[in-house]
Amino acid sequence: MSSHARPAARAEALRREIERHNHLYYVRDAPEITDAEYDRLFRELVDLESAHPELASPDSPTQRVGAAPLPEFAEVRHRTPMLSLANAFDEDEVRAFDRRVREALEIEAVEYAADPKFDGLAVSLAYRKGVFVQGATRGDGATGEDVTPNLRTVRSLPLRLPQAPDTEALEVRGEVLFYRSDFEKLNARQRQAGEKEFANPRNAAAGSLRLLDSRITAQRPLRFFAYGTGIAAKARWKTHSDALDRLAELGFPVCRERSVAQGVEGILQYFSRIGKKRDQLPYAIDGVVYKVNRLDWQDKLGFVSRAPRFAIAHKYPAEEQTTEVLRIEVQVGRSGVLTPVARLKPVEVGGVTVTNATLHNEDDLRRKDVWAGDTVVVRRAGDVIPEVVSVREKGPRRDRDRFSMPHRCPVCESPVIRLPGEAAARCTGGLYCRAQRKQALLHFVGRRAMDIEGIGDKLVEQLVDRDLVRSPADLYRLDREALAGLERMAEKSAQNVIDSIRRSRRMDLARFVFALGIPGVGEEVAKILARHFGSLRALLDADWQALGTEKEAVRKDNAKRKKKGAAPREVPLEGIGPEIMESIDKFVHQRHNREVIGKLVDPVRGVTVTDAASPKGARAESMTFVLTGTLPGMTRDEARALIEARGHRVSGSVSKKTDYLVAGEEAGSKLEQARALGIPVLDEGELVQLLGKR
Ligand code: IVH
Repeated sequence: MSSHARPAARAEALRREIERHNHLYYVRDAPEITDAEYDRLFRELVDLESAHPELASPDSPTQRVGAAPLPEFAEVRHRTPMLSLANAFDEDEVRAFDRRVREALEIEAVEYAADPKFDGLAVSLAYRKGVFVQGATRGDGATGEDVTPNLRTVRSLPLRLPQAPDTEALEVRGEVLFYRSDFEKLNARQRQAGEKEFANPRNAAAGSLRLLDSRITAQRPLRFFAYGTGIAAKARWKTHSDALDRLAELGFPVCRERSVAQGVEGILQYFSRIGKKRDQLPYAIDGVVYKVNRLDWQDKLGFVSRAPRFAIAHKYPAEEQTTEVLRIEVQVGRSGVLTPVARLKPVEVGGVTVTNATLHNEDDLRRKDVWAGDTVVVRRAGDVIPEVVSVREKGPRRDRDRFSMPHRCPVCESPVIRLPGEAAARCTGGLYCRAQRKQALLHFVGRRAMDIEGIGDKLVEQLVDRDLVRSPADLYRLDREALAGLERMAEKSAQNVIDSIRRSRRMDLARFVFALGIPGVGEEVAKILARHFGSLRALLDADWQALGTEKEAVRKDNAKRKKKGAAPREVPLEGIGPEIMESIDKFVHQRHNREVIGKLVDPVRGVTVTDAASPKGARAESMTFVLTGTLPGMTRDEARALIEARGHRVSGSVSKKTDYLVAGEEAGSKLEQARALGIPVLDEGELVQLLGKR
């Protein structure tokens, strides 16, 4: 086709045509041409682009084959945070949700938008001037990973939209997943190639989307379904269903099962209708999602912590199967807890082969009275670890079939204790115990912790068993030679691990604290700690007893203030209870832990823990902002997300502790209060300048 007079025009025509066929095939399920004809068009475009490299363009369908591997993913701050959903597990909880919504809105009946809850991976897609420019994973909700090249390979995801005012700047939210049939084929392929199979479609989707080499992603038939929009939805559409209609019109795959339902009876009917169809759907779902349809009402309802008040996920009950218990073993966890685990005769539960199920603890096992050889009911819900529910039929029950908690740790032989009032038996070996060390290390390198790639069970096993790594600090002294000597470690992968360790040397405080694995300190608590203390030093030097006392005092004072109608004071470390405070206190004062932390940050190993709010010219410690009035270019939630993403806080009322008031149009009494207290007032532009845009 080089005879075409204008290659640019021909390339453009081909791109449109190919994308139209992509849409017909992947979204509409209604192809108009044969595969061979499609391939011919595609070939022509590839040839044209290679003959005229100046024609190449990121929104060309030829880009769907993947690009050169990336060294790592860049971070993306979400302009609108990607939230999680609250769950309802039965009808009562759904009715309670509906009641809360109606009471808050002061109306009789609510119209809901309902759709399946896809069991895949959330992504956010950014379009500028109609062109797909960036796609990110959800990450922790505030920051995700830039997986644009991988998302370009998803055939049903439009690379280009019709030019229209609403495609100038559009953010689309949705789920990336595998159809069940594609998943089976993928696993068959993995098996043939001697590669590891994926546990379920969700894991396969997550793994495929997070490959640094998008050419491999291109060979994985991922799908995309849109279920919402980001920025400025309210300004463009009246209802959620209008927004989705528009997305469908623009060429996005929007699932057929979505619906609008009236009131709580409507959504409950929807739940049972989809429940009946569930097994026939091409993809896995674990529930349905209800959202208040009117966007202005959504806005009015707002959010509680990280989930919207206007939406809820209604989960289908977990799937159950029966199988035989081969034996019962104990597993040693990160903090030394011994968990009895039933090794099972393999059984399919909800599309996944299950070979182990937890028995939680000794009491639970006794209550259910489970013996080796029994036939039991096992249950699996979504990503949750399978559990033994009950005994269906007793086995022969010889003496040796009865479980008893060992008195010594099966891994390190330290004594096992069970504290009064605790359900768990624990190994007292601490980090002397290899099992605990392994678990602590796996936690440390985890994606949400130090995010060191390439270190999985197998490697940790070898590192610990060969005494190459005794504590996380030792990771930072590993070299390629040491790694290359291990099983399944080629030069290249050894280098990748070393590179990944190097990259983790710069880490923000919250993740670092989470990585330490302090009992009771999850991601949320770690964030609170980081915000409060601002630096690792301050956290290590804290006087926890004094903090506990201060906390109580502020609580009491606030109760008094409330009676007087005065504004409450900020409670230090709000959200962290006394048990967890005690656990942190204990942890940071243990000599061994201090030593490990000291080593991690020493110049040899060189981990730098960045203070909670260091980005871009902001002050090092956490600051308190108050928002008032309407900002011209962002919603309240967007402003809040920006502030929190930088490790600062947003408070509802102006006090001496307020660092800045951010004021928009029609700011009222808060502005006066701030002026009276001499607190600096920022407009939107100044806020963005202070904190940086992304
Ligand atoms: S709406 C503000 N709709 O569920 C509401 N989420 O727990 C945000 N998900 O990570 C989500 N199907 O990936 C919504 N039809 C659906 C969904 C859905 C699956 C996932 C989503 C998110 C998680 C929230």
